[in-house]
Amino acid sequence: MTRRKKIYEGKAKILYEGPEPGTLIQYFKDDATAFNAQKKAVLEGKGVINNRISEYIMTRLNAIGVQNHFIRRLNLREQLIKEVEIVPLEVVVRNIAAGSIATRLGLTEGQPLPRSIIEFYYKDDKLGDPMVSEEHITAFNWAATQEIDDMMAMALRVNDYLSGLFGGVGITLVDFKIEFGRVYEGDFSRIILADEISPDSCRLWDSTTNEKLDKDRFRRDLGNVIESYTEVARRLGIMKEMPTVIQGGVH
Ligand code: TMP
Repeated sequence: MTRRKKIYEGKAKILYEGPEPGTLIQYFKDDATAFNAQKKAVLEGKGVINNRISEYIMTRLNAIGVQNHFIRRLNLREQLIKEVEIVPLEVVVRNIAAGSIATRLGLTEGQPLPRSIIEFYYKDDKLGDPMVSEEHITAFNWAATQEIDDMMAMALRVNDYLSGLFGGVGITLVDFKIEFGRVYEGDFSRIILADEISPDSCRLWDSTTNEKLDKDRFRRDLGNVIESYTEVARRLGIMKEMPTVIQGGVH
């Protein structure tokens, strides 16, 4: 195997140098973490499924004009992406109360929110990704006001599109987290969608039973994590024949 230069290793993905300037290879690991990596496991095949689901979603978002870093999938676990300067924020969009907003505001999980709500978290594992406001973001120069506006507009378009996409296959998009990056063109920079969109970064509930089909199955020890991710892929029409191929660490 050729050794490629590792640029960055995160909890669920590795970034390697790409074949040409301005590109990177994003490798999806099977590692799962929760609660800021206090809980860890290896979920055989997760990386393969998330690579495919994220490819599918990013390709479709690109087609409706939500520019993103995805170029093409290379193999089971890797995709070619545009190199970006990551904005150090996690942008969360919520449609239904669940997770931290339910705890923080005393809401009942499953309660529809009065409207879609966007939240920002500062990406810093040591601090546990604290929630921040636009005031913090501009004061500390994590992003400019125009960039915040662009990220919010894109986040809402992603929410509208994905709510419909998942709704069409009997899945409710409860909430999700996305990340953005800057690409430079001369003196100008532009914000594009980056990272991944997968059951690791969304809450997805079966529309009829409310069964969880996302990473909460791991966070809350509900079991059948891979089966649920596979079900999401299957409903999206992505992986007709699943597993067998996901065994054995092909990359
Ligand atoms: P939360 O309710 O825990 O704040 O999560 C909101 C959404 O963001 C949910 O879809 C899960 C996703 N998320 C991540 O992708 N990464 C994270 O580190 C956290 C905390 C949440």
